[in-house]
Amino acid sequence: MAIIAVPKESAPGEKRVALVPEVAQRLVKAGNEVRLQTGAGQAAYYPDSMYSAVGVKLVDDPKALVAGAHVVAKVQAPTAAEVAMLDPTTILIAQVNATRNLDSVRALQQRGITSFALELLPRITRAQSMDVLSSQATIAGYRAVLVAAQEAPKILPMLTTAAGTIRPASVLILGAGVAGLMAIATAKRLGAVVQGYDVRRAAGEQVRSLGAKFLELPINAEGTGGYARELTPEEKAMEAAMVNKAVSAADIVITTANIPGKKAPRLIAKEVVATMRPGAVIVDMAAEGGGNCELTQPGQRVEINGVVILGPLNLPSDVPFHASETFSKNILSFLGLLVDKDGKVTSNFTDEILVGSALTRAGAVQNKMVADLMGGPK
Ligand code: NAI
Repeated sequence: MAIIAVPKESAPGEKRVALVPEVAQRLVKAGNEVRLQTGAGQAAYYPDSMYSAVGVKLVDDPKALVAGAHVVAKVQAPTAAEVAMLDPTTILIAQVNATRNLDSVRALQQRGITSFALELLPRITRAQSMDVLSSQATIAGYRAVLVAAQEAPKILPMLTTAAGTIRPASVLILGAGVAGLMAIATAKRLGAVVQGYDVRRAAGEQVRSLGAKFLELPINAEGTGGYARELTPEEKAMEAAMVNKAVSAADIVITTANIPGKKAPRLIAKEVVATMRPGAVIVDMAAEGGGNCELTQPGQRVEINGVVILGPLNLPSDVPFHASETFSKNILSFLGLLVDKDGKVTSNFTDEILVGSALTRAGAVQNKMVADLMGGPK
């Protein structure tokens, strides 16, 4: 029998919880002990009573919660104080966002914790059910469009009424990965005319299949693992010529472009924002990684000449009920690799998915990109 503990998230504004009652129940039914810190599901609208009804043990004291736990599951990276409470034999799983939370990684490493960072999962078919980047980006893409629609002084659909005809809003989505595709689908459902752009040629078919127009350059910047690579200076110039025109004509621009381990690519310069019409809205979903728009302030709302630029940092947390539900299913699926059906926790970490997502073990940082950022393996 494995003991699985779920702390209350401590990051400011974080409303999600790593296990929802339905998923916790499955783990309990399989013979595991599931502990939840009192109130951990509250902000996501999962009250304690729902957990106790399915056999989850509620624990108030954070130290008692994790004492003797085989696995601790979290949404966000643990703080150094949270790591200090863990037994060195505990396995931690979370969306650590390790490259941006090196202090957490250092704490995990120094305490000798075995930890897995779910954002590092290889993007292979077998890992899809555990892919927190996808499950959370889907929700973020949806939310970004709603936030933009709320901010915009226009309606999105075409409207023909006795009081005249209103043209549909034009929505531009830059970066058509998981979040971008969901943003396209959501904007389409709201009735906007939608265009999408990505540097990976494969994205074109997906954008078009959602009924949007694909803005295409004569390049294919697909790098390793299905991710994009950085563009060359010549490619960037070509990109700017095409993107600038589309941005100035749009009512709403949602930007999602990212390159793993790199600063987010700059797609909208301040001079281009100056060409946008008053009332236009930019939602920069890459704000945390430096932003796709030059004027983005992470976590802020900026208004310049009537153009509003939003840099939200945690959109999934604004939809905490379903974001937690899908996150939990990812955790459950990942636990399937760590805990066997008799509740025995594995010490064999050779599965390709465990190798790919391994962050720290036995005092060493396992991921090369993270280790390099920390100044080499220690
Ligand atoms: P991401 O969050 O790293 O980047 C978002 C998008 O920005 C990507 O589509 C990328 O191509 C694009 N981008 C980068 N630079 C750009 C630029 N200069 N201009 C415009 N767009 C730019 O990517 P995400 O959404 O996490 O996933 C990307 C890839 O991973 C896709 O190929 C997707 O199909 C694949 N994937 C595979 C999964 C699996 O098989 N398990 C699960 C989820 C995604």
